[in-house]
Amino acid sequence: MQLLIRGGTVVTHEESFRADVLCVDGRIAALGTDLGVPGGTEVVDAGGLLVMPGGIDPHTHMELPFMGTVASEDFYSGTAAGLAGGTTSIIDFVIPNPQQSLLEAFGAWRGWAEKSAADYGFHVAITWWSEQVREEMGVLVREHGINSFKHFMAYKNAIMAADDTLVASFERCLELGAMPTVHAENGELVDHLQRKLLAQGLTGPEAHPLSRPAQVEGEAASRAISIAGTLGVPLYLVHVSTADAVEQIRLARRQGQPVYGEVLPGHLLLDDSVYRHPDWQVAAGHVMSPPFRPAQHQQALWQGLQSGDLQTTATDHCCFCAEQKAAGRDDFSKIPNGTAGIEERMAVLWDEGVNSGRLSMHEFVAITSSNTAKLFNLFPRKGAVRVGADADLVLWDPEGTRLISARTHHQNVDFNIFEGKTVRGIPRHTISQGRLVWCDGDLRAERGAGRYLPRPAWPAVYQQLSQRAAHNRAEPVLR
Ligand code: URP
Ligand code: ZN
Ligand code: ZN
Repeated sequence: MQLLIRGGTVVTHEESFRADVLCVDGRIAALGTDLGVPGGTEVVDAGGLLVMPGGIDPHTHMELPFMGTVASEDFYSGTAAGLAGGTTSIIDFVIPNPQQSLLEAFGAWRGWAEKSAADYGFHVAITWWSEQVREEMGVLVREHGINSFKHFMAYKNAIMAADDTLVASFERCLELGAMPTVHAENGELVDHLQRKLLAQGLTGPEAHPLSRPAQVEGEAASRAISIAGTLGVPLYLVHVSTADAVEQIRLARRQGQPVYGEVLPGHLLLDDSVYRHPDWQVAAGHVMSPPFRPAQHQQALWQGLQSGDLQTTATDHCCFCAEQKAAGRDDFSKIPNGTAGIEERMAVLWDEGVNSGRLSMHEFVAITSSNTAKLFNLFPRKGAVRVGADADLVLWDPEGTRLISARTHHQNVDFNIFEGKTVRGIPRHTISQGRLVWCDGDLRAERGAGRYLPRPAWPAVYQQLSQRAAHNRAEPVLR
């Protein structure tokens, strides 16, 4: 199968140049000007378009069983919507129940994901601790291509990992050369504040952000960073939403600690007034954790991306329809937490980031694709436009516009947090494994075409990093 992308401008995280791109059997086979057209080659005219690596979303929850229901978007519909938005790979989460075998849960998620239309990998969550968990982490790394483990510091009495679990699991990650990641919110405080607010009669969505103030995230970020720093293991914080957490990351990085952070477009654009919307359904539609914040946090998040203290963008795509959100009609703490975004992430970031002058187009590629590929060991197979890389590309039209609406999006959910927003800068075509899957409004996603992405760990690199940490920690001996 051959596809020639002709006449576009290639844009990567570090350079841009005019070149045709020839894709053969799912890989980039040649880059150059005026490439010949072998017989049987499909040709796409990329005149006026930017040819960029397909987006990688490192944080999705397709068909997740969560808070008494199951996310409405499955691996097929969700990855197909991603393709319509220029995202060609996802890293989803295997989340074992406490006491459940990690390998058993991994098997279940692998089965569900077989219907994916785009390539996918997994982080595996550590929701409990035992010798069996320790062993199975090793099996997942050595035999199944897992190189990252997730820890929820919130969701008490469900999937929360307490400090003893964090310490044991981070130490195991260091041995294995796998990245520990955290959802940084103090679950004890959230639980306490939820009870207190409910006792005061505050039962609606307006109480959701009150139960999770910024300090709840700042404290957890600081604690996780301290644990990782003491053990000498790198750390990745998912959905960083506050100036408090950005500051903790910045301080650690200034001391040489390998700490990384991810941001969601929703936290960059929306503020906590959405929870005071007079329509309960609209307010509940925005319930996700961490919540949207008072607007002053947004500048810190943008500056985190600009300075390089935050490296990636994701969606935390976790969809619940109105009837599912209604489970929390009388108690905000029972509203299933989650919002969509896989289809809008790239366009919203281009519109608000590049068009506004906050980000260069190279930084855009870095934070939507290449940095994620590097951090989770997919680079340069993914996140690059170079010979030998997977032919996962987005042909970007910087002048094209789109009105975002739940009525027209491809996501399997009846709500869109960016409803009514017009974006300038859209994916005109998306190419996955060298095949045109989004062609100017025509979605040609194929059920089951996505492949599992094994991601090797880095035990040797992690040992070096832990030596660096020990060196930085060493106190001068006073005589
Ligand atoms: O509200 C959210 N974010 N739901 C999905 C689970 C998580 O915390 O990532
Ligand atoms: Zn989370
Ligand atoms: Zn999540």
